[in-house]
Amino acid sequence: MKTIAVRNPATLESLEMQDRPDPGDPGPGEIRVRIHASSLNFHDYSVVSGVMPTEDGRIPMSDGAGEVEAVGQGVQEFAVGDSVVSTFFPPWLAGPPPLGDFSQTPGDGIDGYAREAVVRPVNYFTRAPKGYTHEEAATLTTAGLTAWRALVVDGPIKAGNTVLTLGTGGVSIFAVQLAKMMGAKVISTSSSDAKLERLKGLGADHVINYKTEPEWGKRVMELTGGHGADHIVEVGGPGTLPQSIQAVAIGGHIALIGVLTGVAGDIPTARLMAKQARLQGLIVGSRSQQQEFVRALEVGGLKPVIDRTFPLEGLAEAFRYEASGQHFGKICIGI
Ligand SMILES: NC(=O)c1ccc[n+]([C@@H]2O[C@H](COP(=O)([O-])OP(=O)(O)OC[C@H]3O[C@@H](n4cnc5c(N)ncnc54)[C@H](OP(=O)(O)O)[C@@H]3O)[C@@H](O)[C@H]2O)c1
Repeated sequence: MKTIAVRNPATLESLEMQDRPDPGDPGPGEIRVRIHASSLNFHDYSVVSGVMPTEDGRIPMSDGAGEVEAVGQGVQEFAVGDSVVSTFFPPWLAGPPPLGDFSQTPGDGIDGYAREAVVRPVNYFTRAPKGYTHEEAATLTTAGLTAWRALVVDGPIKAGNTVLTLGTGGVSIFAVQLAKMMGAKVISTSSSDAKLERLKGLGADHVINYKTEPEWGKRVMELTGGHGADHIVEVGGPGTLPQSIQAVAIGGHIALIGVLTGVAGDIPTARLMAKQARLQGLIVGSRSQQQEFVRALEVGGLKPVIDRTFPLEGLAEAFRYEASGQHFGKICIGI
Protein backbone atom coordinates (compact mmCIF):
# COMPACT_ATOMS: atom_id res chain seq x y z
CA MET A 1 0.00 0.00 0.00
CA LYS A 2 1.33 3.39 -1.06
CA THR A 3 1.57 5.90 1.80
CA ILE A 4 3.33 9.12 2.67
CA ALA A 5 5.03 9.43 6.04
CA VAL A 6 6.34 12.36 8.07
CA ARG A 7 10.01 11.78 8.96
CA ASN A 8 11.42 13.75 11.90
CA PRO A 9 12.72 16.41 11.99
CA ALA A 10 9.63 17.17 9.92
CA THR A 11 9.91 19.42 6.88
CA LEU A 12 8.20 19.30 3.49
CA GLU A 13 11.47 17.92 2.11
CA SER A 14 11.45 15.01 4.57
CA LEU A 15 7.97 13.73 3.57
CA GLU A 16 8.68 10.17 2.42
CA MET A 17 6.80 7.91 0.02
CA GLN A 18 6.62 4.45 1.61
CA ASP A 19 5.27 1.04 0.67
CA ARG A 20 3.49 -0.37 3.75
CA PRO A 21 1.65 -3.68 4.33
CA ASP A 22 -1.96 -3.84 3.12
CA PRO A 23 -4.32 -3.23 6.09
CA GLY A 24 -6.18 -6.51 5.36
CA ASP A 25 -9.79 -7.40 6.14
CA PRO A 26 -12.05 -5.55 8.59
CA GLY A 27 -12.78 -7.12 11.98
CA PRO A 28 -16.10 -6.85 13.86
CA GLY A 29 -17.45 -3.29 13.78
CA GLU A 30 -14.84 -2.15 11.23
CA ILE A 31 -14.86 -1.16 7.56
CA ARG A 32 -12.15 -1.24 4.92
CA VAL A 33 -12.03 1.92 2.82
CA ARG A 34 -10.15 2.49 -0.42
CA ILE A 35 -9.05 6.11 0.08
CA HIS A 36 -9.38 8.08 -3.17
CA ALA A 37 -8.88 11.66 -2.00
CA SER A 38 -7.72 13.97 0.76
CA SER A 39 -7.62 17.75 1.10
CA LEU A 40 -5.13 20.19 2.62
CA ASN A 41 -5.71 22.21 5.76
CA PHE A 42 -3.52 24.69 7.60
CA HIS A 43 -3.42 22.17 10.47
CA ASP A 44 -1.99 19.46 8.17
CA TYR A 45 0.60 21.99 7.00
CA SER A 46 1.63 22.61 10.62
CA VAL A 47 2.11 18.85 11.13
CA VAL A 48 4.10 18.14 7.94
CA SER A 49 6.28 21.23 8.36
CA GLY A 50 7.21 20.40 11.96
CA VAL A 51 5.40 23.36 13.58
CA MET A 52 3.16 20.87 15.44
CA PRO A 53 5.51 18.00 16.34
CA THR A 54 4.28 14.49 15.61
CA GLU A 55 5.62 10.94 15.82
CA ASP A 56 8.30 9.85 13.37
CA GLY A 57 6.64 7.87 10.56
CA ARG A 58 3.19 9.40 11.11
CA ILE A 59 0.89 9.20 8.06
CA PRO A 60 -0.36 12.79 7.65
CA MET A 61 -3.70 14.25 6.46
CA SER A 62 -6.90 14.51 8.53
CA ASP A 63 -9.25 14.42 5.56
CA GLY A 64 -9.95 11.16 3.73
CA ALA A 65 -12.71 10.13 1.35
CA GLY A 66 -13.24 6.95 -0.60
CA GLU A 67 -15.24 3.80 -1.13
CA VAL A 68 -16.13 1.02 1.29
CA GLU A 69 -14.45 -2.18 0.03
CA ALA A 70 -15.48 -4.56 2.83
CA VAL A 71 -17.50 -4.46 6.05
CA GLY A 72 -16.81 -6.44 9.21
CA GLN A 73 -19.21 -8.48 11.28
CA GLY A 74 -22.10 -6.51 12.77
CA VAL A 75 -21.66 -3.41 10.60
CA GLN A 76 -25.09 -2.14 9.55
CA GLU A 77 -24.42 1.51 8.79
CA PHE A 78 -22.30 0.97 5.67
CA ALA A 79 -22.33 -1.43 2.72
CA VAL A 80 -19.70 -2.33 0.13
CA GLY A 81 -19.60 0.42 -2.52
CA ASP A 82 -20.73 3.26 -0.24
CA SER A 83 -18.91 6.58 -0.57
CA VAL A 84 -17.64 7.74 2.82
CA VAL A 85 -15.71 10.62 4.37
CA SER A 86 -13.53 10.59 7.48
CA THR A 87 -14.33 12.24 10.82
CA PHE A 88 -11.91 14.67 12.50
CA PHE A 89 -12.58 13.49 16.09
CA PRO A 90 -13.55 9.80 15.79
CA PRO A 91 -14.40 9.41 19.53
CA TRP A 92 -16.66 12.52 19.55
CA LEU A 93 -19.93 11.08 18.39
CA ALA A 94 -22.40 13.75 19.61
CA GLY A 95 -23.08 16.26 22.37
CA PRO A 96 -20.53 18.66 23.87
CA PRO A 97 -16.84 18.27 22.90
CA PRO A 98 -15.10 15.64 25.07
CA LEU A 99 -11.55 16.75 24.20
CA GLY A 100 -9.55 19.87 23.42
CA ASP A 101 -6.50 18.52 21.61
CA PHE A 102 -5.49 16.55 18.53
CA SER A 103 -4.47 13.33 20.29
CA GLN A 104 -7.25 11.37 18.55
CA THR A 105 -7.16 13.23 15.23
CA PRO A 106 -6.09 11.32 12.13
CA GLY A 107 -3.00 12.88 10.59
CA ASP A 108 -1.82 14.25 13.95
CA GLY A 109 -2.24 12.14 17.12
CA ILE A 110 -2.96 9.00 15.03
CA ASP A 111 -2.24 8.02 11.42
CA GLY A 112 -4.18 9.88 8.73
CA TYR A 113 -5.18 9.39 5.11
CA ALA A 114 -2.16 9.98 2.85
CA ARG A 115 -2.53 6.34 1.89
CA GLU A 116 -4.44 4.02 -0.43
CA ALA A 117 -6.47 1.97 2.06
CA VAL A 118 -7.44 1.81 5.70
CA VAL A 119 -9.34 -0.49 8.09
CA ARG A 120 -11.07 1.34 10.93
CA PRO A 121 -14.13 1.24 13.22
CA VAL A 122 -17.28 2.78 11.69
CA ASN A 123 -17.08 5.96 13.81
CA TYR A 124 -14.03 7.04 11.79
CA PHE A 125 -16.31 7.74 8.80
CA THR A 126 -19.73 9.04 7.81
CA ARG A 127 -21.60 8.71 4.55
CA ALA A 128 -20.49 11.25 1.90
CA PRO A 129 -23.13 13.45 0.23
CA LYS A 130 -24.84 11.82 -2.75
CA GLY A 131 -23.49 13.15 -6.06
CA TYR A 132 -20.17 14.28 -4.57
CA THR A 133 -16.84 13.19 -6.09
CA HIS A 134 -14.30 11.77 -3.63
CA GLU A 135 -12.29 15.03 -3.90
CA GLU A 136 -15.39 17.07 -3.03
CA ALA A 137 -16.21 14.79 -0.10
CA ALA A 138 -12.64 15.05 1.20
CA THR A 139 -13.11 18.81 1.78
CA LEU A 140 -15.81 18.23 4.41
CA THR A 141 -13.93 16.59 7.33
CA THR A 142 -12.09 19.70 8.51
CA ALA A 143 -12.82 22.90 6.57
CA GLY A 144 -16.44 22.16 5.71
CA LEU A 145 -17.55 20.95 9.13
CA THR A 146 -15.76 23.84 10.87
CA ALA A 147 -17.67 26.41 8.80
CA TRP A 148 -20.92 24.49 9.36
CA ARG A 149 -20.43 24.37 13.12
CA ALA A 150 -19.39 28.04 13.34
CA LEU A 151 -22.47 29.28 11.52
CA VAL A 152 -25.21 26.69 11.89
CA VAL A 153 -24.51 24.83 15.15
CA ASP A 154 -22.90 27.51 17.32
CA GLY A 155 -24.25 30.59 15.47
CA PRO A 156 -27.00 29.78 14.98
CA ILE A 157 -27.44 31.71 11.75
CA LYS A 158 -30.87 33.04 10.74
CA ALA A 159 -32.05 34.11 7.30
CA GLY A 160 -31.42 37.83 6.98
CA ASN A 161 -28.33 37.83 9.24
CA THR A 162 -25.07 39.40 8.07
CA VAL A 163 -22.01 37.12 8.00
CA LEU A 164 -18.43 38.35 7.73
CA THR A 165 -15.75 36.03 6.32
CA LEU A 166 -11.98 36.69 6.28
CA GLY A 167 -9.74 35.67 3.37
CA THR A 168 -10.35 33.00 0.77
CA GLY A 169 -8.98 29.79 2.28
CA GLY A 170 -10.87 26.54 2.66
CA VAL A 171 -12.90 27.39 5.78
CA SER A 172 -13.80 30.90 4.64
CA ILE A 173 -15.05 29.89 1.19
CA PHE A 174 -17.23 27.20 2.76
CA ALA A 175 -18.55 29.86 5.16
CA VAL A 176 -19.49 32.14 2.24
CA GLN A 177 -21.34 29.32 0.50
CA LEU A 178 -23.11 28.11 3.65
CA ALA A 179 -24.13 31.63 4.66
CA LYS A 180 -25.70 32.19 1.23
CA MET A 181 -27.40 28.77 1.40
CA MET A 182 -28.92 29.79 4.75
CA GLY A 183 -30.25 33.11 3.41
CA ALA A 184 -27.70 35.48 4.95
CA LYS A 185 -26.05 38.62 3.60
CA VAL A 186 -22.28 38.11 3.21
CA ILE A 187 -19.39 40.53 3.53
CA SER A 188 -16.01 39.00 2.61
CA THR A 189 -12.41 40.18 2.77
CA SER A 190 -9.32 39.19 0.79
CA SER A 191 -5.84 40.57 0.10
CA SER A 192 -6.38 40.15 -3.64
CA ASP A 193 -8.72 42.13 -5.91
CA ALA A 194 -8.90 39.18 -8.32
CA LYS A 195 -10.10 36.94 -5.46
CA LEU A 196 -12.61 39.62 -4.40
CA GLU A 197 -14.16 39.35 -7.87
CA ARG A 198 -14.41 35.57 -7.46
CA LEU A 199 -16.07 36.08 -4.05
CA LYS A 200 -18.73 38.21 -5.74
CA GLY A 201 -19.24 35.37 -8.21
CA LEU A 202 -19.92 33.06 -5.24
CA GLY A 203 -22.61 35.44 -3.98
CA ALA A 204 -20.76 37.73 -1.55
CA ASP A 205 -22.86 40.91 -1.28
CA HIS A 206 -19.94 43.20 -0.35
CA VAL A 207 -16.18 42.68 -0.56
CA ILE A 208 -13.28 44.50 1.12
CA ASN A 209 -9.55 44.34 0.39
CA TYR A 210 -8.06 43.99 3.89
CA LYS A 211 -4.61 45.11 2.68
CA THR A 212 -5.70 48.41 1.10
CA GLU A 213 -8.41 48.94 3.73
CA PRO A 214 -6.80 47.97 7.08
CA GLU A 215 -9.71 49.54 9.03
CA TRP A 216 -12.10 47.01 7.52
CA GLY A 217 -14.06 46.73 10.76
CA LYS A 218 -15.26 50.30 10.30
CA ARG A 219 -16.15 49.56 6.68
CA VAL A 220 -18.32 46.61 7.79
CA MET A 221 -20.20 48.95 10.14
CA GLU A 222 -20.78 51.39 7.26
CA LEU A 223 -21.94 48.62 4.90
CA THR A 224 -24.48 47.42 7.47
CA GLY A 225 -25.85 50.86 8.34
CA GLY A 226 -24.18 50.78 11.77
CA HIS A 227 -25.54 47.32 12.71
CA GLY A 228 -22.36 45.25 12.21
CA ALA A 229 -21.95 41.55 11.39
CA ASP A 230 -24.16 39.10 13.30
CA HIS A 231 -21.63 36.29 12.79
CA ILE A 232 -17.93 36.47 12.02
CA VAL A 233 -15.88 33.47 10.93
CA GLU A 234 -12.55 34.56 12.47
CA VAL A 235 -9.63 32.69 10.89
CA GLY A 236 -6.93 35.30 11.53
CA GLY A 237 -6.57 35.35 15.34
CA PRO A 238 -4.71 38.18 17.11
CA GLY A 239 -3.90 40.18 13.97
CA THR A 240 -7.53 40.37 12.85
CA LEU A 241 -9.56 40.05 16.05
CA PRO A 242 -9.43 43.78 16.94
CA GLN A 243 -11.03 44.61 13.56
CA SER A 244 -13.53 41.75 13.98
CA ILE A 245 -14.55 43.16 17.37
CA GLN A 246 -15.01 46.53 15.68
CA ALA A 247 -17.13 44.83 12.98
CA VAL A 248 -19.35 42.64 15.17
CA ALA A 249 -22.95 43.64 15.89
CA ILE A 250 -24.06 44.35 19.46
CA GLY A 251 -24.94 40.91 20.81
CA GLY A 252 -23.26 39.29 17.79
CA HIS A 253 -21.08 36.20 17.57
CA ILE A 254 -17.43 35.71 16.64
CA ALA A 255 -16.41 32.11 15.92
CA LEU A 256 -12.70 32.03 16.75
CA ILE A 257 -11.38 29.39 14.40
CA GLY A 258 -7.93 30.25 13.19
CA VAL A 259 -4.57 31.63 14.10
CA LEU A 260 -3.24 32.62 10.68
CA THR A 261 -1.67 35.78 12.16
CA GLY A 262 -0.18 34.22 15.33
CA VAL A 263 -1.11 32.64 18.64
CA ALA A 264 -1.21 35.60 21.07
CA GLY A 265 -1.69 39.36 20.97
CA ASP A 266 -3.42 42.51 22.25
CA ILE A 267 -7.20 42.25 22.16
CA PRO A 268 -9.56 45.20 22.88
CA THR A 269 -11.44 43.37 25.61
CA ALA A 270 -13.38 46.45 26.79
CA ARG A 271 -14.80 46.96 23.32
CA LEU A 272 -15.76 43.26 23.13
CA MET A 273 -17.54 43.60 26.48
CA ALA A 274 -19.33 46.78 25.37
CA LYS A 275 -20.46 45.02 22.20
CA GLN A 276 -21.92 42.28 24.45
CA ALA A 277 -20.69 39.90 21.78
CA ARG A 278 -20.01 36.19 22.14
CA LEU A 279 -16.45 35.09 21.31
CA GLN A 280 -16.36 31.31 20.98
CA GLY A 281 -13.36 29.14 20.23
CA LEU A 282 -14.06 25.93 18.39
CA ILE A 283 -12.34 22.98 16.80
CA VAL A 284 -14.21 21.24 13.95
CA GLY A 285 -17.19 19.22 15.23
CA SER A 286 -18.76 15.91 16.17
CA ARG A 287 -19.71 12.94 14.02
CA SER A 288 -23.43 13.67 14.38
CA GLN A 289 -22.82 17.29 13.31
CA GLN A 290 -21.05 15.91 10.23
CA GLN A 291 -24.04 13.65 9.47
CA GLU A 292 -26.41 16.66 9.70
CA PHE A 293 -24.03 18.67 7.52
CA VAL A 294 -24.00 15.92 4.85
CA ARG A 295 -27.82 15.87 4.77
CA ALA A 296 -27.94 19.67 4.46
CA LEU A 297 -25.46 19.63 1.56
CA GLU A 298 -27.59 17.11 -0.31
CA VAL A 299 -30.71 19.25 0.08
CA GLY A 300 -28.97 22.62 -0.41
CA GLY A 301 -27.03 21.46 -3.46
CA LEU A 302 -23.81 23.18 -2.32
CA LYS A 303 -20.61 21.96 -4.02
CA PRO A 304 -17.18 22.79 -2.54
CA VAL A 305 -14.84 25.11 -4.44
CA ILE A 306 -11.73 23.10 -5.37
CA ASP A 307 -8.82 25.17 -6.57
CA ARG A 308 -6.43 22.39 -7.64
CA THR A 309 -5.91 18.67 -7.19
CA PHE A 310 -2.43 17.16 -6.87
CA PRO A 311 -1.48 13.45 -6.95
CA LEU A 312 -0.37 11.78 -3.67
CA GLU A 313 3.24 11.91 -4.91
CA GLY A 314 2.86 15.71 -5.18
CA LEU A 315 1.84 16.26 -1.54
CA ALA A 316 4.88 18.44 -0.70
CA GLU A 317 4.29 20.50 -3.83
CA ALA A 318 0.62 20.88 -2.85
CA PHE A 319 1.64 22.25 0.57
CA ARG A 320 4.09 24.68 -1.06
CA TYR A 321 1.22 25.87 -3.21
CA GLU A 322 -0.97 26.33 -0.11
CA ALA A 323 1.83 28.25 1.64
CA SER A 324 2.10 30.57 -1.38
CA GLY A 325 -1.47 31.74 -0.65
CA GLN A 326 -2.48 31.65 -4.33
CA HIS A 327 -5.40 29.30 -3.77
CA PHE A 328 -9.10 30.12 -3.57
CA GLY A 329 -11.01 27.45 -1.63
CA LYS A 330 -9.68 23.92 -1.25
CA ILE A 331 -6.58 22.14 -2.50
CA CYS A 332 -7.14 18.39 -2.93
CA ILE A 333 -5.06 15.24 -3.28
CA GLY A 334 -6.19 12.47 -5.61
CA ILE A 335 -5.07 9.01 -4.44
N1 LIG B 1 -10.64 25.57 14.66
C1 LIG B 1 -10.85 24.72 13.69
O1 LIG B 1 -11.60 23.77 13.80
C2 LIG B 1 -10.18 24.94 12.37
C3 LIG B 1 -10.52 24.17 11.27
C4 LIG B 1 -9.93 24.48 10.05
C5 LIG B 1 -9.00 25.52 9.97
N2 LIG B 1 -8.68 26.20 11.09
C6 LIG B 1 -7.76 27.32 11.06
O2 LIG B 1 -8.34 28.34 10.25
C7 LIG B 1 -7.32 29.03 9.56
C8 LIG B 1 -7.60 28.95 8.06
O3 LIG B 1 -7.48 27.60 7.67
P1 LIG B 1 -7.65 27.15 6.16
O4 LIG B 1 -7.37 25.70 6.09
O5 LIG B 1 -8.93 27.70 5.61
O6 LIG B 1 -6.40 27.92 5.53
P2 LIG B 1 -6.00 28.21 4.07
O7 LIG B 1 -6.91 27.50 3.11
O8 LIG B 1 -4.54 27.98 3.93
O9 LIG B 1 -6.34 29.79 4.00
C9 LIG B 1 -5.39 30.76 3.96
C10 LIG B 1 -6.06 32.07 3.51
O10 LIG B 1 -6.30 32.89 4.63
C11 LIG B 1 -6.27 34.23 4.24
N3 LIG B 1 -5.52 35.04 5.18
C12 LIG B 1 -4.22 34.96 5.55
N4 LIG B 1 -3.92 35.95 6.40
C13 LIG B 1 -5.05 36.68 6.56
C14 LIG B 1 -5.37 37.87 7.27
N5 LIG B 1 -4.47 38.51 7.99
N6 LIG B 1 -6.64 38.32 7.20
C15 LIG B 1 -7.58 37.69 6.48
N7 LIG B 1 -7.32 36.58 5.74
C16 LIG B 1 -6.07 36.09 5.80
C17 LIG B 1 -5.66 34.32 2.86
O11 LIG B 1 -6.72 34.72 1.99
P3 LIG B 1 -6.51 35.81 0.82
O12 LIG B 1 -5.48 35.20 -0.12
O13 LIG B 1 -7.84 35.94 0.22
O14 LIG B 1 -6.04 37.08 1.46
C18 LIG B 1 -5.17 32.89 2.61
O15 LIG B 1 -5.34 32.49 1.27
C19 LIG B 1 -6.00 28.40 10.02
O16 LIG B 1 -5.48 29.12 11.11
C20 LIG B 1 -6.41 27.02 10.48
O17 LIG B 1 -5.54 26.44 11.41
C21 LIG B 1 -9.23 25.92 12.29
